[in-house]
Amino acid sequence: MLNNHDKQLLEKAIESREHAYAPYSHFRVGASVLLEGGTIVTGNNQENAVYPSGLCAERVAVFAANANYPGKKIKAIAISCRNTKRKTAIPFTSCGSCRQVMLEYELKQEEPISVLFYGEDGEVWKVPNTKVLLPLYFDKSAL
Ligand code: THU
Repeated sequence: MLNNHDKQLLEKAIESREHAYAPYSHFRVGASVLLEGGTIVTGNNQENAVYPSGLCAERVAVFAANANYPGKKIKAIAISCRNTKRKTAIPFTSCGSCRQVMLEYELKQEEPISVLFYGEDGEVWKVPNTKVLLPLYFDKSAL
């Protein structure tokens, strides 16, 4: 089911996952963002002793992509997680805030962003766009 581009993107997420700063949760997450033209931007979760000050991998990666490559469309995002205390054999999907952030960029660019979810082993789950992750979403039309 995974094509070579998906596999390569997932490899980047796995690599980035291992550089996460997650001393409190022991839950490492890596995300890789594929931009139009082929550039890949990665990010991982960054925790803090003041817990809410940390940030999820998806938002670190997506914000870095848009900060460094403004206007470049996002084609796909891959995410991999690993709990260092026990085996993560199924994917865990993104939190609500990350879904909201990924969706904002999809709406802005008017093109779907596919998302791959993986743990450290086992199945990979793929969704064709971020809208399916957040039904009845809030967006700028309300503002
Ligand atoms: N985390 C992510 O990086 N992405 C998510 O979508 C869910 C949670 C991180 C945040 C925190 O560092 C750790 O996983 C446990 O919640």
